[in-house]
Amino acid sequence: MLTVKLPEELDRHLAPFREKGRDTGFVPTMGALHEGHLSLIRCSLQQDPVTVVSIFVNPTQFNDPEDLKKYPRRTKEDLALLEQVLRADDVVFLPEEKTIYPEPDTRIFDFGLLDKVLEGEFRPGHFNGVAQVVSRLFELVKPVRAYFGLKDFQQLAVIRRMTEILSLPVTLIPCPIIREPDGLAMSSRNLRLGKEEREQAPRIYRTLQAATTLKNNMSVQELEQWVKEKIEEAPRLKVEYFRVVRADTFRPVKDWNEPGPKQGLVAVWAGEVRLIDNVSFEL
Ligand code: PAF
Repeated sequence: MLTVKLPEELDRHLAPFREKGRDTGFVPTMGALHEGHLSLIRCSLQQDPVTVVSIFVNPTQFNDPEDLKKYPRRTKEDLALLEQVLRADDVVFLPEEKTIYPEPDTRIFDFGLLDKVLEGEFRPGHFNGVAQVVSRLFELVKPVRAYFGLKDFQQLAVIRRMTEILSLPVTLIPCPIIREPDGLAMSSRNLRLGKEEREQAPRIYRTLQAATTLKNNMSVQELEQWVKEKIEEAPRLKVEYFRVVRADTFRPVKDWNEPGPKQGLVAVWAGEVRLIDNVSFEL
Protein backbone atom coordinates (compact mmCIF):
# COMPACT_ATOMS: atom_id res chain seq x y z
CA MET A 1 0.00 0.00 0.00
CA LEU A 2 1.00 3.57 -0.60
CA THR A 3 0.55 6.36 1.98
CA VAL A 4 0.07 9.86 0.56
CA LYS A 5 -0.66 13.29 2.00
CA LEU A 6 -1.01 15.43 -1.11
CA PRO A 7 -3.69 15.37 -3.81
CA GLU A 8 -0.93 15.61 -6.46
CA GLU A 9 0.59 12.33 -5.22
CA LEU A 10 -2.85 10.74 -5.21
CA ASP A 11 -3.50 11.88 -8.80
CA ARG A 12 -0.09 10.68 -9.96
CA HIS A 13 -0.72 7.22 -8.54
CA LEU A 14 -4.34 6.92 -9.71
CA ALA A 15 -3.81 8.37 -13.23
CA PRO A 16 -2.84 5.04 -14.88
CA PHE A 17 -5.91 3.37 -13.32
CA ARG A 18 -8.21 6.18 -14.47
CA GLU A 19 -6.72 6.12 -18.01
CA LYS A 20 -7.47 2.41 -18.32
CA GLY A 21 -11.04 2.93 -16.99
CA ARG A 22 -10.21 0.95 -13.84
CA ASP A 23 -12.55 2.10 -11.06
CA THR A 24 -11.43 3.63 -7.78
CA GLY A 25 -13.29 2.53 -4.67
CA PHE A 26 -13.22 4.86 -1.67
CA VAL A 27 -13.66 4.36 2.07
CA PRO A 28 -13.59 7.69 3.95
CA THR A 29 -12.84 7.37 7.66
CA MET A 30 -11.85 9.41 10.68
CA GLY A 31 -9.42 6.70 11.80
CA ALA A 32 -9.39 4.64 15.01
CA LEU A 33 -10.18 1.80 12.64
CA HIS A 34 -12.12 -1.26 13.72
CA GLU A 35 -13.73 -4.30 12.14
CA GLY A 36 -16.61 -2.10 10.89
CA HIS A 37 -14.20 -0.06 8.75
CA LEU A 38 -12.40 -3.21 7.64
CA SER A 39 -15.69 -4.66 6.38
CA LEU A 40 -16.20 -1.55 4.18
CA ILE A 41 -12.63 -1.91 2.92
CA ARG A 42 -13.12 -5.62 2.16
CA CYS A 43 -16.28 -4.75 0.21
CA SER A 44 -14.27 -2.32 -1.92
CA LEU A 45 -11.38 -4.79 -2.34
CA GLN A 46 -13.85 -7.30 -3.82
CA GLN A 47 -15.20 -4.86 -6.40
CA ASP A 48 -12.60 -2.23 -7.17
CA PRO A 49 -9.22 -2.56 -8.89
CA VAL A 50 -7.87 0.13 -6.57
CA THR A 51 -9.09 1.21 -3.14
CA VAL A 52 -8.40 4.52 -1.40
CA VAL A 53 -8.91 4.77 2.38
CA SER A 54 -8.78 8.28 3.83
CA ILE A 55 -8.13 9.15 7.46
CA PHE A 56 -9.10 12.68 8.40
CA VAL A 57 -10.74 13.85 11.62
CA ASN A 58 -12.98 16.52 10.19
CA PRO A 59 -13.34 19.54 12.50
CA THR A 60 -16.41 20.97 10.70
CA GLN A 61 -18.64 18.04 11.68
CA PHE A 62 -18.03 18.38 15.43
CA ASN A 63 -20.56 20.70 17.00
CA ASP A 64 -18.87 20.14 20.38
CA PRO A 65 -15.17 21.18 20.55
CA GLU A 66 -14.63 18.80 23.53
CA ASP A 67 -15.86 15.89 21.41
CA LEU A 68 -13.37 16.84 18.66
CA LYS A 69 -10.55 17.01 21.21
CA LYS A 70 -11.42 13.61 22.68
CA TYR A 71 -11.95 11.84 19.34
CA PRO A 72 -9.45 8.94 19.28
CA ARG A 73 -6.42 9.46 17.02
CA ARG A 74 -4.36 6.34 16.37
CA THR A 75 -2.76 6.80 12.97
CA LYS A 76 0.19 4.51 13.73
CA GLU A 77 -2.07 1.60 14.73
CA ASP A 78 -4.42 2.36 11.82
CA LEU A 79 -1.59 2.18 9.30
CA ALA A 80 -0.36 -1.12 10.76
CA LEU A 81 -3.87 -2.57 10.40
CA LEU A 82 -4.29 -1.25 6.84
CA GLU A 83 -0.91 -2.71 5.90
CA GLN A 84 -2.39 -6.15 6.60
CA VAL A 85 -5.50 -5.78 4.42
CA LEU A 86 -4.68 -3.42 1.54
CA ARG A 87 -3.05 -4.51 -1.74
CA ALA A 88 0.20 -3.10 -3.12
CA ASP A 89 -1.57 -0.51 -5.33
CA ASP A 90 -4.14 0.62 -2.74
CA VAL A 91 -3.74 4.01 -1.13
CA VAL A 92 -4.07 5.50 2.33
CA PHE A 93 -4.82 9.21 1.98
CA LEU A 94 -3.86 11.26 5.05
CA PRO A 95 -4.67 14.84 4.06
CA GLU A 96 -3.81 17.78 6.25
CA GLU A 97 -6.48 20.27 7.22
CA LYS A 98 -5.13 22.89 4.80
CA THR A 99 -5.51 20.41 1.93
CA ILE A 100 -9.18 19.75 2.71
CA TYR A 101 -9.98 23.35 3.59
CA PRO A 102 -7.52 25.67 1.77
CA GLU A 103 -10.10 28.30 2.72
CA PRO A 104 -12.90 28.01 5.27
CA ASP A 105 -15.79 26.06 3.72
CA THR A 106 -18.83 28.34 4.01
CA ARG A 107 -21.23 26.18 2.00
CA ILE A 108 -24.58 25.56 3.66
CA PHE A 109 -26.48 22.63 2.14
CA ASP A 110 -30.26 22.48 2.08
CA PHE A 111 -31.17 18.95 3.13
CA GLY A 112 -34.76 19.79 4.15
CA LEU A 113 -35.91 17.51 6.96
CA LEU A 114 -32.98 15.10 6.59
CA ASP A 115 -30.58 17.14 8.71
CA LYS A 116 -33.15 18.69 11.05
CA VAL A 117 -34.39 15.64 12.96
CA LEU A 118 -32.71 13.06 15.22
CA GLU A 119 -28.92 13.54 14.91
CA GLY A 120 -29.59 16.83 13.13
CA GLU A 121 -31.67 18.10 16.04
CA PHE A 122 -29.13 17.13 18.71
CA ARG A 123 -25.95 17.90 16.75
CA PRO A 124 -26.74 21.11 14.84
CA GLY A 125 -24.37 21.68 11.90
CA HIS A 126 -22.99 18.13 12.09
CA PHE A 127 -24.38 16.93 8.77
CA ASN A 128 -23.46 20.13 6.97
CA GLY A 129 -19.86 19.47 8.06
CA VAL A 130 -20.09 15.83 6.93
CA ALA A 131 -21.37 16.99 3.52
CA GLN A 132 -18.55 19.53 3.25
CA VAL A 133 -15.79 17.03 3.95
CA VAL A 134 -17.23 14.14 1.93
CA SER A 135 -17.84 16.34 -1.12
CA ARG A 136 -14.27 17.67 -0.87
CA LEU A 137 -12.85 14.16 -0.48
CA PHE A 138 -14.91 12.99 -3.50
CA GLU A 139 -13.48 15.92 -5.48
CA LEU A 140 -9.91 14.84 -4.61
CA VAL A 141 -10.27 11.04 -4.83
CA LYS A 142 -12.80 10.96 -7.72
CA PRO A 143 -14.13 7.54 -6.75
CA VAL A 144 -16.55 5.50 -8.86
CA ARG A 145 -17.90 3.80 -5.73
CA ALA A 146 -17.84 4.90 -2.07
CA TYR A 147 -18.67 2.70 0.91
CA PHE A 148 -20.59 3.77 4.03
CA GLY A 149 -21.75 1.80 7.06
CA LEU A 150 -25.44 1.61 7.90
CA LYS A 151 -24.73 2.35 11.55
CA ASP A 152 -24.67 5.99 10.44
CA PHE A 153 -28.04 5.53 8.74
CA GLN A 154 -28.95 9.22 8.66
CA GLN A 155 -25.45 10.19 7.51
CA LEU A 156 -25.84 7.95 4.46
CA ALA A 157 -29.19 9.59 3.60
CA VAL A 158 -27.58 13.04 3.86
CA ILE A 159 -24.58 12.02 1.72
CA ARG A 160 -26.94 10.52 -0.88
CA ARG A 161 -28.82 13.83 -1.02
CA MET A 162 -25.52 15.76 -1.21
CA THR A 163 -24.43 13.73 -4.27
CA GLU A 164 -27.79 14.50 -5.89
CA ILE A 165 -27.56 18.23 -5.12
CA LEU A 166 -24.01 18.40 -6.53
CA SER A 167 -24.71 15.85 -9.33
CA LEU A 168 -21.65 13.81 -8.35
CA PRO A 169 -21.00 10.70 -10.46
CA VAL A 170 -20.36 8.33 -7.56
CA THR A 171 -22.28 5.22 -6.53
CA LEU A 172 -22.81 4.94 -2.79
CA ILE A 173 -22.66 1.41 -1.41
CA PRO A 174 -24.37 0.87 1.96
CA CYS A 175 -22.73 -1.84 4.09
CA PRO A 176 -24.27 -3.71 7.05
CA ILE A 177 -23.62 -2.75 10.67
CA ILE A 178 -20.81 -4.81 12.17
CA ARG A 179 -21.38 -5.76 15.80
CA GLU A 180 -19.35 -7.05 18.70
CA PRO A 181 -20.31 -10.62 19.72
CA ASP A 182 -22.62 -9.12 22.40
CA GLY A 183 -24.45 -6.99 19.82
CA LEU A 184 -22.89 -3.57 20.47
CA ALA A 185 -22.49 -1.77 17.12
CA MET A 186 -18.80 -1.24 16.40
CA SER A 187 -17.71 2.38 16.67
CA SER A 188 -14.46 4.22 17.25
CA ARG A 189 -16.19 5.78 20.25
CA ASN A 190 -16.43 2.37 21.96
CA LEU A 191 -12.73 2.77 22.81
CA ARG A 192 -13.72 5.49 25.25
CA LEU A 193 -16.30 3.44 27.16
CA GLY A 194 -15.49 2.72 30.80
CA LYS A 195 -15.90 -0.82 32.15
CA GLU A 196 -19.42 -0.28 33.50
CA GLU A 197 -20.64 1.52 30.36
CA ARG A 198 -19.16 -1.16 28.12
CA GLU A 199 -20.98 -3.84 30.12
CA GLN A 200 -24.30 -2.02 29.84
CA ALA A 201 -24.06 -0.80 26.22
CA PRO A 202 -25.18 -4.11 24.57
CA ARG A 203 -28.61 -3.45 26.10
CA ILE A 204 -29.12 -0.85 23.35
CA TYR A 205 -29.22 -3.35 20.49
CA ARG A 206 -30.97 -6.02 22.57
CA THR A 207 -33.76 -3.52 23.20
CA LEU A 208 -33.97 -2.51 19.53
CA GLN A 209 -34.25 -6.16 18.52
CA ALA A 210 -36.98 -6.77 21.11
CA ALA A 211 -38.80 -3.65 19.86
CA THR A 212 -39.11 -5.10 16.35
CA THR A 213 -41.08 -8.04 17.77
CA LEU A 214 -43.41 -5.78 19.76
CA LYS A 215 -44.73 -3.56 17.01
CA ASN A 216 -48.00 -5.51 16.71
CA ASN A 217 -48.72 -5.04 20.44
CA MET A 218 -48.08 -1.31 20.86
CA SER A 219 -48.65 2.01 19.13
CA VAL A 220 -45.57 3.75 17.72
CA GLN A 221 -45.62 6.24 20.61
CA GLU A 222 -45.92 3.46 23.21
CA LEU A 223 -43.05 1.59 21.63
CA GLU A 224 -40.85 4.71 21.57
CA GLN A 225 -41.49 5.16 25.29
CA TRP A 226 -40.93 1.46 25.99
CA VAL A 227 -37.52 1.49 24.26
CA LYS A 228 -36.42 4.54 26.24
CA GLU A 229 -37.47 3.02 29.56
CA LYS A 230 -35.99 -0.40 28.79
CA ILE A 231 -32.58 1.04 27.85
CA GLU A 232 -32.56 3.35 30.86
CA GLU A 233 -33.00 0.40 33.22
CA ALA A 234 -29.21 0.30 32.90
CA PRO A 235 -27.96 3.01 35.29
CA ARG A 236 -25.15 4.30 33.03
CA LEU A 237 -27.35 4.63 29.90
CA LYS A 238 -29.42 7.73 29.12
CA VAL A 239 -31.46 7.88 25.92
CA GLU A 240 -31.21 11.14 23.97
CA TYR A 241 -33.83 10.04 21.44
CA PHE A 242 -35.46 6.97 20.01
CA ARG A 243 -37.77 7.59 17.06
CA VAL A 244 -39.39 5.54 14.38
CA VAL A 245 -39.19 7.39 11.06
CA ARG A 246 -39.72 6.72 7.37
CA ALA A 247 -36.39 5.26 6.24
CA ASP A 248 -36.33 7.38 3.08
CA THR A 249 -37.81 10.75 4.10
CA PHE A 250 -37.12 10.70 7.86
CA ARG A 251 -40.69 11.89 8.51
CA PRO A 252 -41.92 10.66 11.90
CA VAL A 253 -44.09 7.54 11.70
CA LYS A 254 -47.34 7.99 13.64
CA ASP A 255 -49.05 4.73 12.77
CA TRP A 256 -47.66 1.30 11.90
CA ASN A 257 -50.17 1.10 9.02
CA GLU A 258 -48.54 3.99 7.17
CA PRO A 259 -46.94 2.75 3.95
CA GLY A 260 -43.19 2.73 3.33
CA PRO A 261 -40.03 1.44 5.02
CA LYS A 262 -39.65 2.30 8.69
CA GLN A 263 -36.47 2.61 10.73
CA GLY A 264 -35.99 3.03 14.48
CA LEU A 265 -33.00 5.22 15.34
CA VAL A 266 -31.50 5.75 18.76
CA ALA A 267 -28.83 7.89 20.41
CA VAL A 268 -27.73 6.96 23.91
CA TRP A 269 -25.26 8.49 26.33
CA ALA A 270 -23.22 5.73 27.94
CA GLY A 271 -21.62 7.83 30.67
CA GLU A 272 -19.72 10.50 28.70
CA VAL A 273 -19.81 8.64 25.39
CA ARG A 274 -22.57 9.10 22.85
CA LEU A 275 -23.56 5.96 20.93
CA ILE A 276 -25.98 5.55 18.03
CA ASP A 277 -27.66 2.51 16.53
CA ASN A 278 -30.69 1.69 14.40
CA VAL A 279 -32.95 -1.12 13.33
CA SER A 280 -35.37 -1.77 10.47
CA PHE A 281 -39.06 -2.31 11.26
CA GLU A 282 -39.66 -4.07 7.96
CA LEU A 283 -39.00 -7.50 9.48
O1 PAF B 1 -18.53 8.29 9.26
C1 PAF B 1 -17.44 8.88 9.42
O2 PAF B 1 -16.46 8.33 9.89
C2 PAF B 1 -17.33 10.33 9.00
O3 PAF B 1 -18.50 11.02 9.26
C3 PAF B 1 -16.90 10.52 7.54
C4 PAF B 1 -17.92 9.95 6.57
C5 PAF B 1 -15.55 9.85 7.31
C6 PAF B 1 -16.74 12.01 7.22
O4 PAF B 1 -15.80 12.62 8.06
